[in-house]
Amino acid sequence: MDWYEDLNLWSGFSAVLFSPERERRAAEVVTTSPLLAFPAGSRVLDQCCGVGVYTVPLAAQGYRTTGVDLHSELLERAAVVCADAKVEAALVQADAREYVAPGAFDVVLNMYTSFGYFEDPEENLQVLRNAYESLAPDGQLIVDLLSKETYASWVGPPKIVDIPGGMVVMRDTILDDWTRYRTDWTMVRGNTAEHSSLTCYVYSARELRDMFQQVGFEEVECFGDWDGRPYDGGATRLIMRGKKARTA
Ligand SMILES: C[S@@+](CC[C@H](N)C(=O)[O-])C[C@H]1O[C@@H](n2cnc3c(N)ncnc32)[C@H](O)[C@@H]1O
Repeated sequence: MDWYEDLNLWSGFSAVLFSPERERRAAEVVTTSPLLAFPAGSRVLDQCCGVGVYTVPLAAQGYRTTGVDLHSELLERAAVVCADAKVEAALVQADAREYVAPGAFDVVLNMYTSFGYFEDPEENLQVLRNAYESLAPDGQLIVDLLSKETYASWVGPPKIVDIPGGMVVMRDTILDDWTRYRTDWTMVRGNTAEHSSLTCYVYSARELRDMFQQVGFEEVECFGDWDGRPYDGGATRLIMRGKKARTA
């Protein structure tokens, strides 16, 4: 099994990955970010949506939202959150390498470093191709991730995050001359410890821009946070936006 197919990783470490603080922050960003202000009623695809941290506030904004994820168990949790919030979103179990809905969306989002998971670089490109194919002319793709530049100022000694009833120790290791990284997570609760790890490509802005352009995106722009600040020394993340041509 490849690491991203392991549901235990995503659900076991939910307290960190899908924390209430992340939900609060995502809801704030969706209502305030100039990068996420789309025309009313836009059709939005949330690629690799997980438990709906972004899907739910996007639907609450009135966007016609579809969330796609590999794990039906995470989508079931997203459905409960949608019901509690009294919003509707289509939730589809599919692999991002395979899910394509030609011309069906105005916006495709890929949030919170949900990109670069596949060992074969061609499969990562396929995720971008599927986003491109799924966009209507003049549509846009936004990918939000920890890039090489932002990761460099973050990686270092292991970090400890408190979770209800315990803590998670996170250690990052840079691999293959900054081509990929491995994150090892150990969750400690009482006398038990559970370990998981993931290995992911890490891209510079230049590398990701080349991939966007390779699959056909135009007007590719980078931002350093959700307030739309430039992607420079003050960037906390890489947010890349590319457009599909009007006449595509
Ligand atoms: C870091 S989480 C981010 C989830 C969500 N975007 C968010 O902001 O909370 C990455 C997500 O990618 C999903 N995923 C992993 N591999 C996938 C694949 N091959 N196809 C679709 N989703 C996948 C996982 O199930 C997980 O929900």
